[in-house]
Amino acid sequence: MAEKNASKVSARAPSKPTAACTILTTPQRKGRTTMEMQVLWHTAMRKAVVLGTAGAMALGGMVAMAGTAEAATTLGAAATQQGRYFGTAVANNRLSETDYVNTLNTEFNSVTPENEMKWDALEPSRGSFNFANADKIVNHAKARNMQVRGHTLVWHSQLPGWVGSLSADELRKAMTTHITEVMTHWKGQIAAWDVVNEAYQDGSSGARRSSPFQDKLGAGYIEEAFKIARSVDPAAKLCYNDYNTDGVNAKSTAVYNMVKDFKSRGVPIDCVGFQGHFNSNSPVTADFQQNLERFAALGVDIQLTELDIEGSGSEQAANYEKVVKGCLAVSRCTGITVWGVTDKYSWRSSGTPLLFDGSYQKKPAYTAVLNVLNGGTTTPPTTPPTTPPTTPPTTPPTTPPPGGSGSCTATFKTDSSWSGGYNGTVTVKAGSSAITRWTVPLTMASGTSITSLWNATHTTSGSTVTVKNSNWNGSLAAGASTTFSFTVNGGNTAPTVGTCSTS
Ligand code: G3I
Repeated sequence: MAEKNASKVSARAPSKPTAACTILTTPQRKGRTTMEMQVLWHTAMRKAVVLGTAGAMALGGMVAMAGTAEAATTLGAAATQQGRYFGTAVANNRLSETDYVNTLNTEFNSVTPENEMKWDALEPSRGSFNFANADKIVNHAKARNMQVRGHTLVWHSQLPGWVGSLSADELRKAMTTHITEVMTHWKGQIAAWDVVNEAYQDGSSGARRSSPFQDKLGAGYIEEAFKIARSVDPAAKLCYNDYNTDGVNAKSTAVYNMVKDFKSRGVPIDCVGFQGHFNSNSPVTADFQQNLERFAALGVDIQLTELDIEGSGSEQAANYEKVVKGCLAVSRCTGITVWGVTDKYSWRSSGTPLLFDGSYQKKPAYTAVLNVLNGGTTTPPTTPPTTPPTTPPTTPPTTPPPGGSGSCTATFKTDSSWSGGYNGTVTVKAGSSAITRWTVPLTMASGTSITSLWNATHTTSGSTVTVKNSNWNGSLAAGASTTFSFTVNGGNTAPTVGTCSTS
């Protein structure tokens, strides 16, 4: 368990869903909340600017607006401009405190009930549900156009005693009833559910944690839970959530393998939650972003679900900056939730791990996060990012740099595949001279199409996809190489890779 480790939307935002309605397709609009529309609007803007497509041309004034947008002044508004949400855990019994509520309402546009949706709170005795406290949080959020993360349906902790004493058959029935009743109660109101929480052990075993569910129902309980959840509220994103999985390690690899298996067998899973409880024993590791990237490549969204980083001052700020940048660098990282509004009520209060101090004053960490969300940096990057920046450049280059006189080669490999799709990577290698930009044409196999591509930009015309370097990986020394990757739907036949060119 984690003990040992562990809106208000922009004042400008209300007009944007309307704009989104005009540029998003009907399927994109269908069933979206206003906030999701805002996020989609900004995502569409980002894509349009980055790709420079005809769609971007059509957006005309909007693109200009994005390029000159003023820096947002709240976390929620700044995240929305990045196509993300910025949330916090909320405790119902703090909603009567003015400073708490003002900070919540001003800064955040997503909430997660900290304890009120856990099994012991919702179903303390079998079949007897108490939704009142969680309802207060959900209603508070809905009234302010904030989204809600549901936390959590199946977890070994905060589990009432009666659950653990059931036989396997009765436990299966109880789990089914619990998921069904809870999700039905808030059907259509929860953006994402942590369907299963913390199912893996710490350490190097990569094994499942012992729990009534694991021990009595067997390893399949997780996919059972996800399948039930999907059938109850098909609109909710279904997440697996865990801690100490933030870097590449045995535990995160075990979760990765589970998600990969689920995706390959069609078990419904949409997202992976990385709790992000950091301190000196569990520091932010250098491979944080890389770890998010490998999960995203499986075709799931990433959410930072319980972020808190112990410390203070510039050191804490730098760690927050690293984590938020890591999320922004991964296009499928859709949002960040910090685990509380203020240090005063943090579960790790003595470690002062949050963005507002005990008097609700903004900490250096707050400023660092806001700056990063606004596209700025407080410390220059020392190494080039391994994925393209997700923010558009403020002024797009007018003339492309010369490609250099060198040549390049491109080779494809399949990273993983499943029924109806695959992930692939192309390695671009400079010849005996340095190059400054490259282009690789791909011809997609009949019926297949790229659903997302990272580490490069691409345009599609029929079955031909033209892939060009990002602004940070065009320059390659003689013999050096870089890669771009993509997800394909519609079949498993690899694309034909055309001739790499440098002009
Ligand atoms: O509300 C009662 C209060 O009436 C009572 O007097 C008091 C005495 O102990 O307990 C209060 O309940 C506490 C509750 O937090 C509300 O403050 C519980 O004891 C305490 O165990 C509980 O801790 C929560 C913890 O999960 C339980 O595992 C933390 O608030 C909550 O932040 C924490 O959240 C977890 C995530 O759900 C999962 N990931 C790890 C994260 C941190 O542990």
